[in-house]
Amino acid sequence: MSPSPPVPDAGDTSTSRGRGIRFAGVSKAFIAGNGARTSAVREVDLEIAEQQFVALIGPSGCGKSTLLRLADGLLEPDTGRIAIGDAPPRPGPAIGMVFQNFRLIPWRSVRDNVGFALEGRGLDGTELKQRVQAQLEQVGLAGWDDHYPAQLSGGMRQRVALARALIGRPGVLLMDEPFASLDAQTRELMQDDLLALWERQRPTVLFVTHSVDEALLLADRVIVMGGGAVLEDLPIHLPRPRRSTDARRAAEYSQLREHLWSRIRDLVLADPASAFFGRHVQADGEGG
Ligand SMILES: Nc1ncnc2c1ncn2[C@@H]1O[C@H](COP(=O)(O)OP(=O)(O)OP(=O)(O)O)[C@@H](O)[C@H]1O
Ligand SMILES: [Mg+2]
Repeated sequence: MSPSPPVPDAGDTSTSRGRGIRFAGVSKAFIAGNGARTSAVREVDLEIAEQQFVALIGPSGCGKSTLLRLADGLLEPDTGRIAIGDAPPRPGPAIGMVFQNFRLIPWRSVRDNVGFALEGRGLDGTELKQRVQAQLEQVGLAGWDDHYPAQLSGGMRQRVALARALIGRPGVLLMDEPFASLDAQTRELMQDDLLALWERQRPTVLFVTHSVDEALLLADRVIVMGGGAVLEDLPIHLPRPRRSTDARRAAEYSQLREHLWSRIRDLVLADPASAFFGRHVQADGEGG
């Protein structure tokens, strides 16, 4: 066996440009308490270019969150390799993670929730405070430093979670249905804000969503997953910079939407675990 080469520091907080993400032959299974085995991710090969915005869509249970946790380094694959830039993924501020349910620390102020990601990085108090303030300004929360999560609306909490993920200037931003629990107006405003932030900082983004519209609005590329595998890899050439109202007016938009939606509907109807399983009979007979 050869000695392992020095590993480049994936935790370098000075990184602000997106890094590529590479999955090569990645599989992950879970064994439940009763011994039942679930193949959550199956032989995924996926190469995401630096600064690309990729949406991941597919029925519930198809392995989207598992793929994200593998990219974050929180989970180890059973087989295959994952690389962020040239290094294996390692949890830390260089990889920003945003979850659906915010995961803020209730007894910490907004400032301390956001600054948490930079603790132990040797910044003095003033520097840390300034960094947090600048980040809060970027997500539209200037002046909210001293508030606590319980004093904020859902949209504001999600902005705090976004600020926390962005403050380490991550080269990679992993987002797991981040806007799913927001009301429709807040969601649309957050989508536009995220686009503006991404255009400024250009991290590489892997964004899980159940919404075809959200995927089309945000992404350069939509990956459709089903049964743990990548089923489709669809480039989105809608012009940028994109904003929600303009994107929907593009002629290409409705075609892409129709295509993606019918693909996902078929996957859901063919999934025995879905409440909609077998609800309609496909005209072309059964797929494989
Ligand atoms: N820790 C775990 N232990 C056992 N099984 C798990 C675990 N995590 C995920 N699974 C199973 O792996 C499969 C994929 O789960 P995953 O959470 O990745 O799906 P998902 O596509 O994110 O679904 P959703 O859209 O509902 O969030 C599911 O069958 C799930 O039950
Ligand atoms: Mg999930």
